[in-house]
Amino acid sequence: MTSDWARLKELDKRHLWHPYTQHKDFEEDSMLCIDHADGVFLYDENGKAYYDTISSWWCIVHGHNRPEIKQAIAQQMDLLEQVHFAGTTHAPGIRLAQRLVELTPEHLTRVFFSDNGSTACEIAVKMSFQYWKQVGQPQRQGIISLKRGYHGDTLGTMSLGGTPQFHSAFAPLLFSTYKLPSPYCYRCEYHKEPISCDFACLKPLEDLLNDKAQEMACIILEPLLQAAGGMIAYSSGYLRRLERLIKQAGIHLIFDEVATGFGRTGRMFALEHVNAKPDFLCLSKGLTAGWLPMAATLTTEEVFCAFYDDYSKGKTFFHGHTFTGNPLAASAALASLNIFEKDRVLENLGPKMELLQNGAKEFLRHPFIGDVRGMGMVAAFELVQDKATKTPFAPESRMGFRIYLEGLKYGLILRPLGDVLYLFLPLSTTSDEIKDILQRMERLLWEFFRR
Ligand SMILES: Cc1ncc(COP(=O)(O)O)c(C=O)c1O
Repeated sequence: MTSDWARLKELDKRHLWHPYTQHKDFEEDSMLCIDHADGVFLYDENGKAYYDTISSWWCIVHGHNRPEIKQAIAQQMDLLEQVHFAGTTHAPGIRLAQRLVELTPEHLTRVFFSDNGSTACEIAVKMSFQYWKQVGQPQRQGIISLKRGYHGDTLGTMSLGGTPQFHSAFAPLLFSTYKLPSPYCYRCEYHKEPISCDFACLKPLEDLLNDKAQEMACIILEPLLQAAGGMIAYSSGYLRRLERLIKQAGIHLIFDEVATGFGRTGRMFALEHVNAKPDFLCLSKGLTAGWLPMAATLTTEEVFCAFYDDYSKGKTFFHGHTFTGNPLAASAALASLNIFEKDRVLENLGPKMELLQNGAKEFLRHPFIGDVRGMGMVAAFELVQDKATKTPFAPESRMGFRIYLEGLKYGLILRPLGDVLYLFLPLSTTSDEIKDILQRMERLLWEFFRR
Protein backbone atom coordinates (compact mmCIF):
# COMPACT_ATOMS: atom_id res chain seq x y z
CA MET A 1 0.00 0.00 0.00
CA THR A 2 2.65 2.52 1.08
CA SER A 3 4.93 1.95 -1.93
CA ASP A 4 1.89 2.29 -4.19
CA TRP A 5 1.20 5.59 -2.57
CA ALA A 6 4.77 6.78 -3.08
CA ARG A 7 4.31 6.20 -6.81
CA LEU A 8 0.84 7.74 -6.82
CA LYS A 9 2.11 10.86 -5.08
CA GLU A 10 4.81 11.23 -7.68
CA LEU A 11 2.22 10.86 -10.47
CA ASP A 12 -0.06 13.35 -8.73
CA LYS A 13 2.72 15.92 -8.77
CA ARG A 14 3.44 15.20 -12.39
CA HIS A 15 -0.07 15.16 -13.85
CA LEU A 16 -2.72 16.67 -11.66
CA TRP A 17 -4.03 20.18 -11.38
CA HIS A 18 -6.18 20.42 -8.22
CA PRO A 19 -8.97 22.97 -7.67
CA TYR A 20 -8.36 26.08 -5.57
CA THR A 21 -4.76 24.95 -5.07
CA GLN A 22 -1.44 26.70 -5.42
CA HIS A 23 0.67 23.70 -6.34
CA LYS A 24 3.86 25.40 -5.21
CA ASP A 25 2.56 25.02 -1.64
CA PHE A 26 3.06 21.29 -2.08
CA GLU A 27 6.49 21.37 -3.68
CA GLU A 28 8.10 19.58 -0.77
CA ASP A 29 5.30 17.83 1.06
CA SER A 30 2.61 16.02 -0.81
CA MET A 31 -1.02 16.81 -0.22
CA LEU A 32 -3.10 14.81 2.16
CA CYS A 33 -3.75 11.45 0.48
CA ILE A 34 -7.09 9.96 1.36
CA ASP A 35 -7.25 6.22 1.10
CA HIS A 36 -10.75 5.56 2.40
CA ALA A 37 -13.51 6.98 4.56
CA ASP A 38 -16.06 5.83 7.06
CA GLY A 39 -18.59 7.77 9.15
CA VAL A 40 -17.19 11.22 9.87
CA PHE A 41 -13.60 10.10 9.32
CA LEU A 42 -11.26 10.23 6.36
CA TYR A 43 -8.22 7.94 6.53
CA ASP A 44 -4.88 8.70 4.93
CA GLU A 45 -2.55 6.19 3.32
CA ASN A 46 -1.06 5.29 6.72
CA GLY A 47 -4.44 4.73 8.31
CA LYS A 48 -4.38 7.99 10.29
CA ALA A 49 -7.92 9.28 10.87
CA TYR A 50 -9.07 12.85 10.25
CA TYR A 51 -12.45 14.27 11.15
CA ASP A 52 -14.16 15.36 7.94
CA THR A 53 -15.01 18.66 9.61
CA ILE A 54 -15.99 20.35 6.35
CA SER A 55 -18.13 17.46 5.07
CA SER A 56 -15.85 17.11 2.04
CA TRP A 57 -16.76 20.56 0.75
CA TRP A 58 -20.16 20.63 2.38
CA CYS A 59 -21.77 17.66 0.71
CA ILE A 60 -21.43 14.66 3.05
CA VAL A 61 -24.64 14.48 5.09
CA HIS A 62 -24.98 11.11 6.81
CA GLY A 63 -21.26 10.34 7.06
CA HIS A 64 -19.20 8.38 4.57
CA ASN A 65 -19.86 4.85 3.49
CA ARG A 66 -23.55 4.60 4.47
CA PRO A 67 -24.58 1.09 3.39
CA GLU A 68 -28.14 2.11 2.44
CA ILE A 69 -26.89 4.61 -0.14
CA LYS A 70 -24.27 2.23 -1.49
CA GLN A 71 -26.94 -0.43 -1.86
CA ALA A 72 -29.37 1.91 -3.63
CA ILE A 73 -26.72 2.88 -6.18
CA ALA A 74 -25.74 -0.75 -6.69
CA GLN A 75 -29.36 -1.79 -7.27
CA GLN A 76 -29.85 1.00 -9.78
CA MET A 77 -26.62 -0.02 -11.56
CA ASP A 78 -28.25 -3.31 -12.49
CA LEU A 79 -31.09 -1.44 -14.19
CA LEU A 80 -29.84 1.74 -15.80
CA GLU A 81 -26.69 3.75 -15.21
CA GLN A 82 -27.28 6.67 -17.56
CA VAL A 83 -29.58 7.89 -20.27
CA HIS A 84 -30.06 11.34 -21.79
CA PHE A 85 -32.97 13.13 -20.13
CA ALA A 86 -34.39 14.93 -23.18
CA GLY A 87 -37.37 13.06 -24.51
CA THR A 88 -36.72 10.12 -22.17
CA THR A 89 -37.37 9.70 -18.48
CA HIS A 90 -36.82 7.13 -15.74
CA ALA A 91 -38.17 6.05 -12.37
CA PRO A 92 -35.47 7.42 -10.02
CA GLY A 93 -35.64 10.83 -11.72
CA ILE A 94 -39.42 10.95 -11.50
CA ARG A 95 -39.51 9.75 -7.90
CA LEU A 96 -36.85 12.21 -6.83
CA ALA A 97 -38.66 15.12 -8.46
CA GLN A 98 -41.81 14.14 -6.59
CA ARG A 99 -39.97 13.87 -3.25
CA LEU A 100 -38.34 17.27 -3.72
CA VAL A 101 -41.67 18.86 -4.57
CA GLU A 102 -43.17 17.31 -1.42
CA LEU A 103 -40.31 18.56 0.76
CA THR A 104 -40.28 22.14 -0.46
CA PRO A 105 -42.93 24.90 -0.28
CA GLU A 106 -46.15 24.01 -2.04
CA HIS A 107 -45.80 26.46 -4.90
CA LEU A 108 -42.55 24.86 -6.11
CA THR A 109 -43.85 22.15 -8.41
CA ARG A 110 -41.28 21.80 -11.19
CA VAL A 111 -37.81 20.29 -10.97
CA PHE A 112 -35.04 20.78 -13.52
CA PHE A 113 -32.02 18.57 -12.87
CA SER A 114 -28.39 19.30 -13.60
CA ASP A 115 -25.11 18.16 -12.10
CA ASN A 116 -23.53 20.79 -9.85
CA GLY A 117 -24.28 23.84 -7.78
CA SER A 118 -23.10 26.32 -10.39
CA THR A 119 -25.43 24.92 -13.02
CA ALA A 120 -28.34 24.86 -10.57
CA CYS A 121 -27.92 28.61 -10.06
CA GLU A 122 -27.18 29.49 -13.64
CA ILE A 123 -30.30 27.63 -14.74
CA ALA A 124 -32.46 29.61 -12.32
CA VAL A 125 -31.11 32.90 -13.65
CA LYS A 126 -31.50 31.82 -17.28
CA MET A 127 -35.07 30.68 -16.62
CA SER A 128 -35.94 33.96 -14.96
CA PHE A 129 -34.37 35.96 -17.78
CA GLN A 130 -36.21 34.02 -20.48
CA TYR A 131 -39.45 34.04 -18.48
CA TRP A 132 -39.67 37.82 -18.56
CA LYS A 133 -39.14 37.86 -22.32
CA GLN A 134 -41.90 35.34 -22.80
CA VAL A 135 -44.43 37.16 -20.65
CA GLY A 136 -43.93 40.40 -22.56
CA GLN A 137 -41.54 42.19 -20.23
CA PRO A 138 -38.23 41.84 -22.08
CA GLN A 139 -36.87 45.00 -20.47
CA ARG A 140 -36.47 43.07 -17.20
CA GLN A 141 -32.85 42.11 -17.52
CA GLY A 142 -31.34 43.37 -14.27
CA ILE A 143 -29.94 40.79 -11.90
CA ILE A 144 -29.33 41.58 -8.25
CA SER A 145 -26.94 39.68 -6.03
CA LEU A 146 -24.99 40.19 -2.82
CA LYS A 147 -21.44 41.09 -2.05
CA ARG A 148 -19.74 38.06 -0.50
CA GLY A 149 -22.29 35.84 -2.22
CA TYR A 150 -20.97 32.79 -3.98
CA HIS A 151 -22.86 30.80 -6.58
CA GLY A 152 -20.14 28.91 -8.43
CA ASP A 153 -17.22 29.22 -10.79
CA THR A 154 -18.73 29.23 -14.27
CA LEU A 155 -18.63 32.57 -16.06
CA GLY A 156 -22.32 33.10 -15.34
CA THR A 157 -22.16 32.32 -11.65
CA MET A 158 -18.91 34.21 -11.20
CA SER A 159 -20.81 37.23 -12.52
CA LEU A 160 -23.37 36.74 -9.76
CA GLY A 161 -20.74 36.21 -7.10
CA GLY A 162 -19.37 38.82 -4.78
CA THR A 163 -16.11 37.26 -3.64
CA PRO A 164 -13.48 39.19 -5.62
CA GLN A 165 -10.55 37.11 -4.40
CA PHE A 166 -11.95 34.16 -6.37
CA HIS A 167 -13.12 35.94 -9.48
CA SER A 168 -11.31 39.23 -10.06
CA ALA A 169 -8.92 37.67 -12.61
CA PHE A 170 -11.89 37.14 -14.90
CA ALA A 171 -13.61 40.50 -14.42
CA PRO A 172 -13.52 41.49 -18.11
CA LEU A 173 -15.39 38.31 -19.03
CA LEU A 174 -18.24 38.75 -16.58
CA PHE A 175 -21.63 40.45 -16.99
CA SER A 176 -22.58 43.06 -14.45
CA THR A 177 -25.14 42.64 -11.71
CA TYR A 178 -26.43 45.02 -9.06
CA LYS A 179 -24.48 44.14 -5.94
CA LEU A 180 -25.99 44.76 -2.51
CA PRO A 181 -23.95 45.03 0.69
CA SER A 182 -23.46 41.78 2.52
CA PRO A 183 -25.35 41.40 5.83
CA TYR A 184 -21.96 40.82 7.45
CA CYS A 185 -22.61 42.36 10.86
CA TYR A 186 -19.08 41.82 12.21
CA ARG A 187 -17.71 44.05 9.46
CA CYS A 188 -20.77 46.20 8.80
CA GLU A 189 -20.21 48.56 5.84
CA TYR A 190 -22.22 51.17 7.72
CA HIS A 191 -20.46 50.71 11.06
CA LYS A 192 -23.79 50.02 12.76
CA GLU A 193 -24.83 47.57 15.43
CA PRO A 194 -27.33 44.79 14.68
CA ILE A 195 -29.74 45.82 17.42
CA SER A 196 -30.15 49.36 16.13
CA CYS A 197 -29.20 49.23 12.43
CA ASP A 198 -32.73 48.75 11.09
CA PHE A 199 -31.11 46.78 8.27
CA ALA A 200 -29.30 49.74 6.76
CA CYS A 201 -27.71 47.28 4.36
CA LEU A 202 -31.11 46.82 2.69
CA LYS A 203 -31.46 50.54 1.91
CA PRO A 204 -29.57 50.16 -1.41
CA LEU A 205 -32.09 47.50 -2.42
CA GLU A 206 -34.99 49.78 -1.55
CA ASP A 207 -33.41 52.60 -3.56
CA LEU A 208 -32.71 50.34 -6.51
CA LEU A 209 -36.27 49.04 -6.54
CA ASN A 210 -37.76 52.52 -6.17
CA ASP A 211 -35.72 53.59 -9.14
CA LYS A 212 -35.61 50.61 -11.45
CA ALA A 213 -37.96 47.83 -10.33
CA GLN A 214 -39.38 47.52 -13.83
CA GLU A 215 -35.95 46.71 -15.23
CA MET A 216 -35.15 43.97 -12.74
CA ALA A 217 -35.53 40.25 -13.47
CA CYS A 218 -34.37 38.56 -10.29
CA ILE A 219 -32.27 38.52 -7.17
CA ILE A 220 -30.14 35.55 -6.17
CA LEU A 221 -28.83 34.96 -2.67
CA GLU A 222 -27.89 32.30 -0.16
CA PRO A 223 -30.56 32.36 2.57
CA LEU A 224 -29.29 32.90 6.14
CA LEU A 225 -25.71 31.79 5.47
CA GLN A 226 -23.31 33.25 2.95
CA ALA A 227 -21.07 30.23 2.88
CA ALA A 228 -18.00 30.64 0.67
CA GLY A 229 -18.00 34.40 1.32
CA GLY A 230 -16.85 33.68 4.90
CA MET A 231 -19.56 31.56 6.57
CA ILE A 232 -21.55 34.68 7.31
CA ALA A 233 -24.65 33.68 9.22
CA TYR A 234 -27.17 36.49 9.17
CA SER A 235 -30.49 37.33 10.71
CA SER A 236 -33.86 36.02 9.66
CA GLY A 237 -35.18 39.58 10.03
CA TYR A 238 -32.95 40.66 7.17
CA LEU A 239 -34.19 37.83 4.97
CA ARG A 240 -37.83 38.51 5.79
CA ARG A 241 -37.49 42.17 4.93
CA LEU A 242 -35.61 41.39 1.73
CA GLU A 243 -38.30 38.94 0.66
CA ARG A 244 -41.00 41.53 1.34
CA LEU A 245 -39.23 44.13 -0.81
CA ILE A 246 -38.71 41.67 -3.64
CA LYS A 247 -42.31 40.47 -3.60
CA GLN A 248 -43.60 44.04 -3.58
CA ALA A 249 -41.47 44.78 -6.62
CA GLY A 250 -42.75 41.64 -8.35
CA ILE A 251 -39.39 40.25 -9.34
CA HIS A 252 -38.07 36.74 -8.99
CA LEU A 253 -36.51 35.59 -5.75
CA ILE A 254 -33.87 32.91 -6.26
CA PHE A 255 -32.62 31.04 -3.22
CA ASP A 256 -29.31 29.31 -3.63
CA GLU A 257 -29.49 26.51 -1.06
CA VAL A 258 -26.63 24.57 -2.60
CA ALA A 259 -24.75 24.82 0.70
CA THR A 260 -27.59 25.32 3.19
CA GLY A 261 -29.92 22.63 1.87
CA PHE A 262 -30.43 19.21 3.42
CA GLY A 263 -30.31 19.98 7.08
CA ARG A 264 -27.19 22.09 7.54
CA THR A 265 -29.01 24.94 9.22
CA GLY A 266 -31.15 22.66 11.36
CA ARG A 267 -34.12 22.55 8.99
CA MET A 268 -34.29 20.64 5.73
CA PHE A 269 -33.96 23.96 3.90
CA ALA A 270 -32.93 27.33 5.30
CA LEU A 271 -36.05 28.92 3.83
CA GLU A 272 -38.12 27.07 6.44
CA HIS A 273 -36.72 29.27 9.21
CA VAL A 274 -38.63 32.21 7.74
CA ASN A 275 -41.35 30.45 5.74
CA ALA A 276 -39.98 32.08 2.62
CA LYS A 277 -41.48 31.46 -0.79
CA PRO A 278 -38.76 31.85 -3.40
CA ASP A 279 -39.61 31.54 -7.09
CA PHE A 280 -36.56 29.35 -7.62
CA LEU A 281 -34.71 27.04 -5.29
CA CYS A 282 -31.24 25.76 -6.23
CA LEU A 283 -30.01 22.53 -4.67
CA SER A 284 -26.92 20.36 -5.02
CA LYS A 285 -24.10 19.16 -2.68
CA GLY A 286 -26.15 17.39 0.03
CA LEU A 287 -28.80 16.32 -2.47
CA THR A 288 -27.10 12.96 -2.95
CA ALA A 289 -25.58 13.13 0.57
CA GLY A 290 -22.24 13.59 -1.19
CA TRP A 291 -22.28 10.36 -3.15
CA LEU A 292 -22.65 11.53 -6.73
CA PRO A 293 -22.79 14.89 -8.51
CA MET A 294 -26.33 16.12 -8.96
CA ALA A 295 -28.27 19.36 -8.75
CA ALA A 296 -31.85 20.52 -9.01
CA THR A 297 -33.49 23.86 -9.76
CA LEU A 298 -37.06 24.01 -8.52
CA THR A 299 -39.56 26.54 -9.73
CA THR A 300 -43.25 27.33 -9.96
CA GLU A 301 -45.97 26.25 -12.33
CA GLU A 302 -46.27 29.86 -13.42
CA VAL A 303 -42.67 29.94 -14.63
CA PHE A 304 -43.02 26.53 -16.28
CA CYS A 305 -46.17 27.62 -18.11
CA ALA A 306 -44.41 30.62 -19.64
CA PHE A 307 -42.23 28.11 -21.52
CA TYR A 308 -45.09 25.80 -22.53
CA ASP A 309 -46.31 26.39 -26.07
CA ASP A 310 -46.13 25.16 -29.65
CA TYR A 311 -42.53 24.45 -30.53
CA SER A 312 -42.67 27.00 -33.35
CA LYS A 313 -43.22 29.79 -30.80
CA GLY A 314 -39.58 29.38 -29.73
CA LYS A 315 -40.28 29.24 -26.01
CA THR A 316 -38.37 26.04 -25.24
CA PHE A 317 -35.76 26.27 -22.51
CA PHE A 318 -32.62 25.35 -24.41
CA HIS A 319 -30.45 24.15 -21.61
CA GLY A 320 -29.21 20.71 -20.61
CA HIS A 321 -26.23 18.72 -19.46
CA THR A 322 -25.12 15.24 -20.43
CA PHE A 323 -25.72 13.85 -16.96
CA THR A 324 -28.99 15.68 -16.28
CA GLY A 325 -31.05 13.56 -13.89
CA ASN A 326 -28.49 10.73 -13.82
CA PRO A 327 -30.32 7.64 -12.49
CA LEU A 328 -27.52 6.54 -10.16
CA ALA A 329 -27.33 9.99 -8.59
CA ALA A 330 -31.12 10.13 -8.30
CA SER A 331 -31.16 6.79 -6.47
CA ALA A 332 -28.49 8.01 -4.10
CA ALA A 333 -30.59 11.10 -3.41
CA LEU A 334 -33.71 9.01 -2.77
CA ALA A 335 -31.78 6.77 -0.39
CA SER A 336 -30.49 9.82 1.45
CA LEU A 337 -34.01 11.20 1.83
CA ASN A 338 -35.10 7.81 3.19
CA ILE A 339 -32.35 8.03 5.81
CA PHE A 340 -33.59 11.49 6.81
CA GLU A 341 -36.97 9.92 7.51
CA LYS A 342 -35.91 6.58 8.96
CA ASP A 343 -33.30 8.01 11.36
CA ARG A 344 -35.38 11.12 12.13
CA VAL A 345 -32.22 13.04 11.35
CA LEU A 346 -33.63 16.54 11.66
CA GLU A 347 -35.68 15.74 14.76
CA ASN A 348 -32.53 14.51 16.50
CA LEU A 349 -30.28 17.41 15.59
CA GLY A 350 -31.34 19.84 18.35
CA PRO A 351 -28.93 18.87 21.17
CA LYS A 352 -26.02 18.46 18.75
CA MET A 353 -26.54 21.89 17.22
CA GLU A 354 -26.76 23.42 20.68
CA LEU A 355 -23.57 21.71 21.73
CA LEU A 356 -21.77 22.95 18.64
CA GLN A 357 -23.04 26.53 18.82
CA ASN A 358 -22.42 26.87 22.58
CA GLY A 359 -19.03 25.22 22.31
CA ALA A 360 -18.09 27.48 19.42
CA LYS A 361 -18.96 30.62 21.39
CA GLU A 362 -16.36 29.65 24.01
CA PHE A 363 -13.68 30.33 21.39
CA LEU A 364 -14.37 34.05 21.68
CA ARG A 365 -12.10 33.91 24.73
CA HIS A 366 -9.23 33.25 22.41
CA PRO A 367 -7.06 36.36 21.81
CA PHE A 368 -7.01 35.92 18.04
CA ILE A 369 -10.63 34.98 17.37
CA GLY A 370 -12.59 38.13 16.67
CA ASP A 371 -15.94 36.68 15.74
CA VAL A 372 -17.77 33.39 16.13
CA ARG A 373 -20.89 32.83 14.10
CA GLY A 374 -22.93 30.00 12.74
CA MET A 375 -26.17 28.12 12.72
CA GLY A 376 -27.23 24.51 12.76
CA MET A 377 -24.24 22.27 12.19
CA VAL A 378 -22.08 25.13 10.90
CA ALA A 379 -19.78 27.22 13.08
CA ALA A 380 -17.21 29.77 11.91
CA PHE A 381 -14.31 31.45 13.68
CA GLU A 382 -12.81 34.61 12.22
CA LEU A 383 -9.13 35.05 13.02
CA VAL A 384 -7.93 38.60 13.58
CA GLN A 385 -4.61 40.07 14.57
CA ASP A 386 -6.22 42.67 16.81
CA LYS A 387 -9.61 42.05 18.36
CA ALA A 388 -10.20 45.64 19.43
CA THR A 389 -9.74 47.03 15.93
CA LYS A 390 -10.77 43.84 14.05
CA THR A 391 -7.55 44.16 12.08
CA PRO A 392 -7.05 41.05 9.98
CA PHE A 393 -3.75 39.25 9.77
CA ALA A 394 -1.63 40.33 6.82
CA PRO A 395 -2.64 38.16 3.85
CA GLU A 396 0.97 37.14 3.28
CA SER A 397 1.07 35.55 6.75
CA ARG A 398 -1.46 32.98 5.42
CA MET A 399 -2.67 32.37 8.91
CA GLY A 400 -5.70 30.29 7.92
CA PHE A 401 -3.64 28.04 5.69
CA ARG A 402 -0.97 27.54 8.37
CA ILE A 403 -3.59 26.56 10.90
CA TYR A 404 -5.08 24.17 8.37
CA LEU A 405 -1.70 22.45 7.97
CA GLU A 406 -1.25 22.33 11.73
CA GLY A 407 -4.79 21.01 12.16
CA LEU A 408 -3.90 17.91 10.19
CA LYS A 409 -1.61 16.90 13.03
CA TYR A 410 -4.63 17.05 15.34
CA GLY A 411 -6.74 14.94 12.99
CA LEU A 412 -8.83 17.87 11.81
CA ILE A 413 -9.46 19.09 8.28
CA LEU A 414 -9.97 22.79 8.89
CA ARG A 415 -9.66 24.00 5.32
CA PRO A 416 -10.32 27.71 5.89
CA LEU A 417 -11.92 30.45 3.85
CA GLY A 418 -9.10 32.98 4.02
CA ASP A 419 -8.76 33.61 7.76
CA VAL A 420 -12.13 32.11 8.62
CA LEU A 421 -11.85 28.67 10.13
CA TYR A 422 -15.07 26.75 10.18
CA LEU A 423 -16.78 23.52 10.99
CA PHE A 424 -19.41 22.33 8.52
CA LEU A 425 -20.20 19.02 10.10
CA PRO A 426 -21.95 15.99 8.68
CA LEU A 427 -25.37 15.74 10.34
CA SER A 428 -24.39 12.28 11.57
CA THR A 429 -21.60 13.66 13.79
CA THR A 430 -22.36 12.49 17.33
CA SER A 431 -22.30 14.68 20.44
CA ASP A 432 -19.11 12.95 21.62
CA GLU A 433 -17.49 13.60 18.26
CA ILE A 434 -18.51 17.27 18.37
CA LYS A 435 -16.97 17.61 21.85
CA ASP A 436 -13.80 15.91 20.65
CA ILE A 437 -13.57 18.15 17.55
CA LEU A 438 -13.98 21.30 19.66
CA GLN A 439 -11.40 20.10 22.18
CA ARG A 440 -8.88 19.30 19.47
CA MET A 441 -9.49 22.69 17.89
CA GLU A 442 -9.00 24.45 21.19
CA ARG A 443 -5.71 22.65 21.84
CA LEU A 444 -4.55 23.35 18.32
CA LEU A 445 -5.25 27.08 18.54
CA TRP A 446 -3.69 27.61 21.96
CA GLU A 447 -0.60 25.63 21.04
CA PHE A 448 -0.28 27.25 17.62
CA PHE A 449 -0.45 30.82 18.92
CA ARG A 450 1.72 30.11 21.95
CA ARG A 451 4.67 29.42 19.67
C1 LIG B 1 -24.03 28.45 -2.14
C2 LIG B 1 -23.30 27.80 -3.28
N1 LIG B 1 -23.79 27.89 -4.50
C3 LIG B 1 -23.19 27.31 -5.55
C4 LIG B 1 -22.02 26.61 -5.39
C5 LIG B 1 -21.35 25.98 -6.56
O1 LIG B 1 -21.46 24.60 -6.50
P1 LIG B 1 -20.49 23.67 -7.37
O2 LIG B 1 -19.15 23.80 -6.77
O3 LIG B 1 -21.08 22.31 -7.22
O4 LIG B 1 -20.56 24.18 -8.76
C6 LIG B 1 -21.47 26.49 -4.12
C7 LIG B 1 -20.22 25.77 -3.90
O5 LIG B 1 -19.58 25.83 -2.90
C8 LIG B 1 -22.11 27.12 -3.03
O6 LIG B 1 -21.64 27.05 -1.79
